[in-house]
Amino acid sequence: MSGHASAPRPLTSRRTGALRGRVRVPGDKSISHRAFLFGGLASGRTRVTGLLEGEDVLATGRAMRQMGARIERDGEAWVIDGVGNGALLEPEGVLDFGNAGTGSRLTMGLVGTYEFTTTFVGDASLSRRPMARVLDPLREMGVQVLARCKDRLPLSLRGPRIAAPIEYRVPMASAQVKSAVLLAGLNTPGVTTVIEPVMTRDHTEKMLEGFGASVSVETDGAGVRTIRLQGQGELKGVPDFVVPGDPSSAAFLVVAALLVPGSDVVVENALMNPTRTGLVETLREMGADIEIVNPRLSGGEDVADLHVRHSALRGVSVPAARAPSMIDEYPVLAVAAAFAEGTTRMEGLDELRVKESDRLAAVAAGLAANGVAHEEGPDWLTVTGRPDGRGLGGGTVETHLDHRIAMSFLVMGLASEKPVTVDDATMIATSFPEFEGLVTGLGGTLEPATR
Ligand code: S3P
Repeated sequence: MSGHASAPRPLTSRRTGALRGRVRVPGDKSISHRAFLFGGLASGRTRVTGLLEGEDVLATGRAMRQMGARIERDGEAWVIDGVGNGALLEPEGVLDFGNAGTGSRLTMGLVGTYEFTTTFVGDASLSRRPMARVLDPLREMGVQVLARCKDRLPLSLRGPRIAAPIEYRVPMASAQVKSAVLLAGLNTPGVTTVIEPVMTRDHTEKMLEGFGASVSVETDGAGVRTIRLQGQGELKGVPDFVVPGDPSSAAFLVVAALLVPGSDVVVENALMNPTRTGLVETLREMGADIEIVNPRLSGGEDVADLHVRHSALRGVSVPAARAPSMIDEYPVLAVAAAFAEGTTRMEGLDELRVKESDRLAAVAAGLAANGVAHEEGPDWLTVTGRPDGRGLGGGTVETHLDHRIAMSFLVMGLASEKPVTVDDATMIATSFPEFEGLVTGLGGTLEPATR
């Protein structure tokens, strides 16, 4: 099933020739999770194309099946027959989310307000991650939480007879928390309100509207967003839902092309929603040659192709305010910074401590193992680069069950003087099963590590 069940598979990347060609990254992970969740909840049929078939997303699909949705693969598409809002069934057995924070937290919101018991389990990484951020607002709505280890998986939820709508100000920049509260509001009478002081990815709001929910968003002069959802309304299947390509997966190929001399790569079909484009903006400030070509609309979202050529990069200061729009991209930005002239400073990184691993610590350790000058603070990181990659590499990186740590350091090894090994590449399948094939198809060298 998920990567945690299989033995670790160490993998090495090494410097070879230029990367060249066109690639199409798989579907966006955030949107794919939501397609299964909302399609499985809505009445009628939803047909999804471009879905990411990564382990995280498939776990969400399995959970929705356990709660009554019919989900079948039909050629290139996924066909979902949903249960209707308010009509999820009590699952038999536990819901196993593997490595997936998004799947587990959004589902806690979706089903938490139902008057039955649901049990959530996950792998070692997910079982270490804080769930209080979602459980606290759910408790305010009347949900009971049973957990042996305080607010960590495994845990069980049981909803009240009738949940209470709340107004909730999200205390950290988190689309997962925003989404969990809104989804809990779907099975709650009255209006559930989420106040979001800092805008995060807006896929939940946009998609709920597309599935027919009554949702409104107001933004004040300071950028604070108030999202109101009318509970217990009807959700209707979307006959033709298209998932755009994942910019967070594109990021690894974009950075690889920038770092490997002579490279010229087109990454097709990347989502360009402004809540997701912080990395492209930052890389361009660093001097990256990234041309945004063929901008178009796909499934109601802006998408484009990214034409990337090897570039000389220089260090920049990345403002904390940009963090929500590139929160998953800091590990690979740190790798890009390792090849830039001068120092890159990244701030506002506190949320990186609670991702699939403590990503700030994991990145710093990976940089240290590969000879990159850096400094780690409580919520910041500086990296001083070596434009030619001389002296870099040669280390083994501990991935801590974190797919993005694995992919980031494999990208480093494509351009560093000495090869880079990651202790385990299995978790890459949670978000980007095609990664190794796409990298080698472009001319990169990845090989089983000899230990
Ligand atoms: C996601 C939100 C982000 C992000 C994650 C996907 C989502 O997490 O890191 O990969 O789909 O809502 P946080 O909400 O914890 O910032």
